[in-house]
Order: sequence, then C-alpha cells, then structure tokens
Amino acid sequence: MRSLRFYLCFLALYASISFPTKCFGNICLPKDHVAFFIFGDSIVDVGNNNYITTNLQANFLPYGETFFQYPTGRASNGRLIPDFIAEKANLPLIQPYLYPGYDQYIDGANFASIGAGVLAETRRGLVIDLNTQLNYFKNMETLLKHKLGEEEAKTLLDKAVYLICIGNNDYFVPFTTNSSVLKSYSPEKYVDMVIGNLTTAIKEIYKKGGRKYVFLGLPPLGCVPYIKAQIPGNTGACMEELTTLVKLHNKELSKVLPKLESQLKGFKYSLADFYSFCTERINSPSKYGFTEGKISCCGSGSYRGIPSCGERSNEYELCEKVSDFLFFDSVHPTEKAYQQFAELIWSGTPNITGPYNLKALFEH
Ligand SMILES: *[C@@H]1O[C@H](CO)[C@@H](O)[C@H](O)[C@H]1NC(C)=O
Ligand SMILES: *[C@@H]1O[C@H](CO)[C@@H](O)[C@H](O)[C@H]1NC(C)=O
Ligand SMILES: *[C@@H]1O[C@H](CO)[C@@H](O)[C@H](O)[C@H]1NC(C)=O
Repeated sequence: MRSLRFYLCFLALYASISFPTKCFGNICLPKDHVAFFIFGDSIVDVGNNNYITTNLQANFLPYGETFFQYPTGRASNGRLIPDFIAEKANLPLIQPYLYPGYDQYIDGANFASIGAGVLAETRRGLVIDLNTQLNYFKNMETLLKHKLGEEEAKTLLDKAVYLICIGNNDYFVPFTTNSSVLKSYSPEKYVDMVIGNLTTAIKEIYKKGGRKYVFLGLPPLGCVPYIKAQIPGNTGACMEELTTLVKLHNKELSKVLPKLESQLKGFKYSLADFYSFCTERINSPSKYGFTEGKISCCGSGSYRGIPSCGERSNEYELCEKVSDFLFFDSVHPTEKAYQQFAELIWSGTPNITGPYNLKALFEH
C-alpha cells in the first residue's frame, strides 16, 4: 500500500514535470491540449440520435457489436472515423453532445446526427440539422466560458480541430424519398445552395475561434448498395445522376476551401478524399484486405441494399465475417474501412488529404 502511494506520488510528480498543466478549479489541461469537435451526419454521429425523437437510429444490434458489444448509436459495426482520430490524438472517445449529463467539453464534443444535412429542408424534424448543431456548439461555448473563463475558453476553441462531414443526405434524400426540394433547382444551383450554407456555417465556427478544420469529401453515394439495389434491371450500375451531384459537390468544396484560407486569417484545413478511398475499395477490395466491396454485410435484397439491418426487423441477413466487407449496412462502411481511412488521413500525403494532414493539424 505504502509503496503504491509512493509510486503514485512519484508518478504525479513526473507527470507534472514532463507535461506542464494549467488548472481551472478542478479541471487541469496539458499545455498542448487540443480539443476535437465534430459536426455532420451518420458517418460521424456517435450517438446523438439516441436522444432525439426519430426513426433514423442505429441503437440496436448488430450495430456496435464488433467493437463495443452493444449498440451505441453509431451506424456501423464498431468505431467511426472520429473515434480513430481521437485515439491518434491521445484523446478519449469524444462523447455525443446530447449524452445525458455530459458537460465536460474540454476534450471536445460531437454534434453530428444520423440523417442530417446542410439544408434545413433535409429530413426536417427528424435530425439535428447543421444549423442546430451550430446552435448547440454556441451553447457549449457559453458553458466553457463559465467554466474556464473567457480567455481560456477562447484559447481552447482556437487550438481545437473541427471535423465536418456533411452533405451526403442533401443529395441522398431526393433520390430515396419523395422530397421535391432538389427537383425545383438545377444540379449546379442546388450544389451552390449546399456549399453556400456550409460556408456560412464554417464562418460561424471561425468567429467563435475555430482555425483548424478537417473536411471529408463525399463518398461515391451513387454506388452504395442501397442505391444500386434501386437501379432497374439490377445491372450493377451506379446511379449517374447522384454521382454527378456528388462529384460537383466535391469539386465546389475543393474550390471554396482555398478561398476561405485566403479570406480568413489563420484558417487551415485538411480536405480528405473519401470518394477515391471508397471507389478503390469497391473496385479492388482484395488489394485492401476485403473480399467484398459491393454487397453489404447486413441487410436484405440485392446487394443487401434494403436497409433492414437490425433487430427491429427479423428479415435481414448478416454476413459471417464482417472484416471481409467494405459496407456494413446498405449505406455505411464497416469499422475496418473507417480505420483504414482514419489511418490514411492522419499521416497521409496530399493525394489522400491536404494541404495539411490531421497529424499536422493536431500538432501545430
Ligand atoms: C413516393 O410517392 C409515391 C406516390 O405517392 C409512392 O408510391 C412511393 O412509395 C413514394 N416513394 C417513397 C420513397 O417514399
Ligand atoms: C441556404 O439554403 C437555403 C435553403 O435551405 C437557400 O434558400 C439559401 O439561399 C442558401 N444560402 C446560401 C448562402 O446559399
Ligand atoms: C499517394 O502518394 C503516395 C506517396 O507519394 C503513394 O505511395 C500512394 O500510392 C498514393 N496514393 C494514391 C491513392 O494515389
């Protein structure tokens, strides 16, 4: 007992020498602490939708089973990109903002919501849209100021990294529901609206101190099992109309970010090429350690593209070996795919993420 106490005391002394900290009441932060905030959709939601009234959820098995052994609200079999990035950045898993009783925010918070889009019209009433995610972020800022004081809260938000993965649903919804918003615009005008609203949101975060951003480009949505299963004749083709929109969005995003960099002092970003990452694995799964890149692990129908995965329906099939698959359900990649992507963008070269990689954003 005594030696343990001596050891702990020594450890504490050692820790305080090698990792200088700053304390506010009972909260102590290492001097080089970098928080991590996440905005977006099901690619990055770690459980916010568990706490809203919606049918857009993943809080039932087999979601979560591979890593957590229980459903967490993550729309995959295990961890998502932000979980792997947090680990690389020596942070704990970043909690959903709506997690009851969660008010630490020192390490960050996750505001993402399954089904959410940039536009308020996208699944209105069923999701936490981007604007509401921003309002939650602003509420959190107020709380942080109370806790840490004005100046330290500002420093924390200045040094933090902001991951934004949104837009998928703005393009997906018009092809999967009877929503007519897209139909009244040309593809160019619609993409302009999405990118325009996204730009407004980035500027809001910038105003609150945000300087370092990670953007995930959109994946090949026209080729996910859900969409392929809807193509008449079951030819294996992707949906070209959707592919065109996604490519247009990615192109516009890659143009608007350098503009923001030149307009906003200190703005730094990493734009990650999720599109090529997924396309390469859909076409050549075996090159990347998968055996199946086109059929999902969990669902029903052609390509298991009918989104029936989970215990709410007993009419779904579940694959035997999830690590063989690129897609877990009709839309979402597996934990293994997310892990590969997180590793690539963490230390990646500009052909997968640039101008900065994530390691550089967290360390400088
Ligand atoms: C769209 O509307 C038509 C006719 O009202 C209906 O038959 C169809 O099921 C709807 N599709 C979706 C995806 O909601
Ligand atoms: C934002 O989206 C709305 C539709 O939700 C649209 O009317 C508006 O023009 C968009 N704003 C920008 C700056 O593009
Ligand atoms: C990216 O560049 C690296 C090193 O320059 C190379 O090894 C890798 O194959 C490239 N990846 C792609 C997807 O082009």
